Amino acid sequence: MAGRLEALWPLWRLRLRLGPLELRPPSDEDLAALVEVAREGVHPPDRMPFLSPWTLLGSPAFEQGFLQHHWRLRAEWSPQAWSLELAVAYEGQLVGCQGLWASDFAVTRTVETGSWLGARFQGLGIGTTMRTAVLGLAFDHLGALEAHSGSLPDSPASAIVSRRLLYRENGVVARAVRGQRVVEQRYRLTVQDWRALTRPEVEVEGLADCHHLFEGG
Ligand SMILES: CC(C)(COP(=O)(O)OP(=O)(O)OC[C@H]1O[C@@H](n2cnc3c(N)ncnc32)[C@H](O)[C@@H]1OP(=O)(O)O)[C@@H](O)C(=O)NCCC(=O)NCCS
Repeated sequence: MAGRLEALWPLWRLRLRLGPLELRPPSDEDLAALVEVAREGVHPPDRMPFLSPWTLLGSPAFEQGFLQHHWRLRAEWSPQAWSLELAVAYEGQLVGCQGLWASDFAVTRTVETGSWLGARFQGLGIGTTMRTAVLGLAFDHLGALEAHSGSLPDSPASAIVSRRLLYRENGVVARAVRGQRVVEQRYRLTVQDWRALTRPEVEVEGLADCHHLFEGG
């Protein structure tokens, strides 16, 4: 990304590093690589771990919808409602995305997370590490007080990651997924439980010029 663009939109300089992972706002080149990873498969065809079944679209709607989703998040960013969808690189190779989003964060101090990895990169601990990285950003660098996550019956790995990171069950919500009633298990992690967790520290670079984007002012 050119230096002039980074000066205008400082999020481009944000980097999270934890173990073999680097998380960064995806460039358009990153998006082109990520869409290939996602097209190779994220889940078995008879499962749907997402509230919005974006993985079921055929080509080229899938690719175009993927790009437009990421461009929309950039375009619609505001301190009142932001969604940081980070590309995840494992030993330099793009493997998936880790999202962190919030509404009225300056007041609520509450974030939500969601994520996906290419199927061949799942079950290796990457999901736990990338969630830990964005929680480190949220709790230790942005001043979050709580983080939420949800897991559908077809996303057991997400629930395992939440429980491993000391989230507690936080009720259930009935959802409509592909026209069917599906019960989502909600999870909540407080900053107190985060502080009690034994975990590696995330290295955060480039945040200093971004605080107004997360909080306004
Ligand atoms: C959710 C996701 C990002 C987690 O990443 P990950 O790298 O697979 O997670 P980890 O390897 O850190 O941990 C997942 C754990 O769940 C376990 N797991 C995976 N699939 C499972 C299944 N179907 N049933 C039971 N356990 C399962 C893994 O074995 C692992 O446990 P272990 O470390 O004790 O072996 C990834 O699995 C994924 O992209 N899944 C498909 C999309 C999805 O469900 N996204 C979440 C929507 S909210």
